[in-house]
Amino acid sequence: MNLILLGPPGAGKGTQAEILSKRLGIETISTGVMLRTAIREGTELGTMAQEYINAGKLVPDDVVVGIVKERLSKDDCKKGFILDGFPRTTAQAEALEQAGVRIDKVLSLEVSDETIIERLSGRRECKDCGTPYHVVYKPSANGDKCQVCGGPLIQRADDNEETVKNRIQVYHEQTEPIKEFYQKQGKVVVAHGREELADTTREVAKALGLE
Ligand code: AP5
Repeated sequence: MNLILLGPPGAGKGTQAEILSKRLGIETISTGVMLRTAIREGTELGTMAQEYINAGKLVPDDVVVGIVKERLSKDDCKKGFILDGFPRTTAQAEALEQAGVRIDKVLSLEVSDETIIERLSGRRECKDCGTPYHVVYKPSANGDKCQVCGGPLIQRADDNEETVKNRIQVYHEQTEPIKEFYQKQGKVVVAHGREELADTTREVAKALGLE
């Protein structure tokens, strides 16, 4: 299955992508993760992207389209993929189409703006390997250290309240219109980001016809 996860910041796209990736045995391509890895590694791409990300703005389309196309050309994407956080503008969706990339389903993960702020204020990630956690909903079994690699847990630079508000505004203005783009193609299925992770996971599976 070639799947797009669409939803506002903090909707749970990364969390559901991780679960679906294991269940379906296909790769997740997260532009947010790719950009944050580039920032951690201090590459040219990372230096350029950091300014946009920390301000809650979108990285320019041509840059993101370039890294996604390159990633999709790898062999491990041939049996399917999950796109998390891409496309995020109509121009990015059109670029994907022009590149001849087939999309089977677009899962729209929906939560209210109030829930987003609560989710993101409690989110933590490992400074070393990027594994995501939540202080209430998905705590590390290793306390304030990562349960995968033992690295320290930190708050993402773009999860402060002011930047989160900018990200929500950018989502409504630039990303939400993509839903209509794919609705016209009959590809959109909807799931609601529930209070309990397990409930969301069940709803996602149902929406995708996996149970
Ligand atoms: P990106 O990393 O994609 O951020 P985002 O879309 O804002 O999404 P998040 O990662 O914040 O949230 P999520 O929906 O994955 O939720 P999560 O599963 O973590 O992008 C970051 C930045 O990079 C952008 O602002 C932009 O600058 C740039 N960028 C990226 N892609 C781009 C593109 N295509 N074009 C241009 N620029 C781009 O969940 C959130 C928290 O809630 C977690 O702590 C989780 O544990 C918890 N949680 C999840 N589900 C539940 C649940 N059901 N119940 C309770 N808690 C839950």
